[in-house]
Amino acid sequence: MLIDGHGRRVNYLRISLTERCNFRCRYCMPEKPFSWVPRENLLSFEDLFKFVRVAIDHGIEKIRLTGGEPTLRADLDKFIKMISDYKPDIDLAMTTNGYLLKEIAGDLRRAGLRRLNISLDSLDPSTAALIAGRDVLSNVLAGIEAALREGFKVKINMVPLKGINDHEIVDILEWSRERGIQVRFIEYMENVHAQSSLQGLHGREILERIRERYRVEKIGRQGSSPAFLYRLAEDGYTFGLIDPHKHDFCESCNRIRLTAEGYLIPCLYFDEAMSIKEAVEAGDIDGAVEILRQVLANKPKENRWSEERSELSNRAFYETGG
Ligand code: GTP
Ligand code: 5AD
Ligand code: SF4
Repeated sequence: MLIDGHGRRVNYLRISLTERCNFRCRYCMPEKPFSWVPRENLLSFEDLFKFVRVAIDHGIEKIRLTGGEPTLRADLDKFIKMISDYKPDIDLAMTTNGYLLKEIAGDLRRAGLRRLNISLDSLDPSTAALIAGRDVLSNVLAGIEAALREGFKVKINMVPLKGINDHEIVDILEWSRERGIQVRFIEYMENVHAQSSLQGLHGREILERIRERYRVEKIGRQGSSPAFLYRLAEDGYTFGLIDPHKHDFCESCNRIRLTAEGYLIPCLYFDEAMSIKEAVEAGDIDGAVEILRQVLANKPKENRWSEERSELSNRAFYETGG
């Protein structure tokens, strides 16, 4: 079993497969272009799998693949199959921008992936393009359709931004409800890599927008999920709110993140990280587990986004996948 320095049981591994992305979402990427880490620094799927196997042996029960954009990585379906063959009952999910799903959803499903969380920040092509930095909406919608057709359990992630897409909160809620998909509204988390001058909405502002139209009832948090669930009184449709500025979900945090280059990141907010790359490449699995235990021992108690002021995190979302 994996227990961190605050007594929390860690059973959820989020693996970023690449920091590269075919979008340039304003809340994630900088205004100025930058150079990517060279591809040869990536952990190979073979080496990644060595770590995944031992992590599962030590109590990891849920794995989520993230990015950057995970679908940019070649042979993704083969990696998924390696994991699902090793532990067929694992909760295996991916967070994606959905752009390439139309072509590959079937392969990913057959390889053993079960759940997809897909970003959808606007239903208007020009607003979607303004946020993502390119014309993405029709492909994303086709990707969501393909995912549903292939039998994936789908959730939608939306980050409301003041003056950009905050007028679409109810539209996206209704669009998701019509398709029987859960939407989660996520507070924008301020970070130095995001494009400057963005302003997110507080969780309570997001709820106010929904309450202008609907009677909303509280459900609560399920397990260690960062999402607090609510339902519409009218028909029981359930949606979620992820509000890290309150950071009360940190006390039940169950996750650890691994970057594409092999850095274990104990918390989404902070810079700290330790690499397992050398150990794994040398076949020193005990060494990698020792590093994992050290990272868990030093896992911070909570993030530092706060209700009072919006602190900037130095950690890049395109490295951690959120
Ligand atoms: P489920 O497995 O479906 O519950 O998904 P998830 O919420 O674990 O995964 P997803 O990648 O969809 O996460 C949604 C968003 O929640 C992320 O992109 C982050 O923005 C935010 N989030 C997830 N985990 C954390 C966390 O530990 N801290 C903070 N501050 N935000 C998080
Ligand atoms: N604030 C909140 N959520 C973010 N994401 C990326 N950057 C941020 C940020 N700054 C989330 C998006 C996307 C997922 C990959 O990460 O919701 O769905
Ligand atoms: Fe790419 Fe996701 Fe970051 Fe958008 S949020 S730029 S889709 S990694």
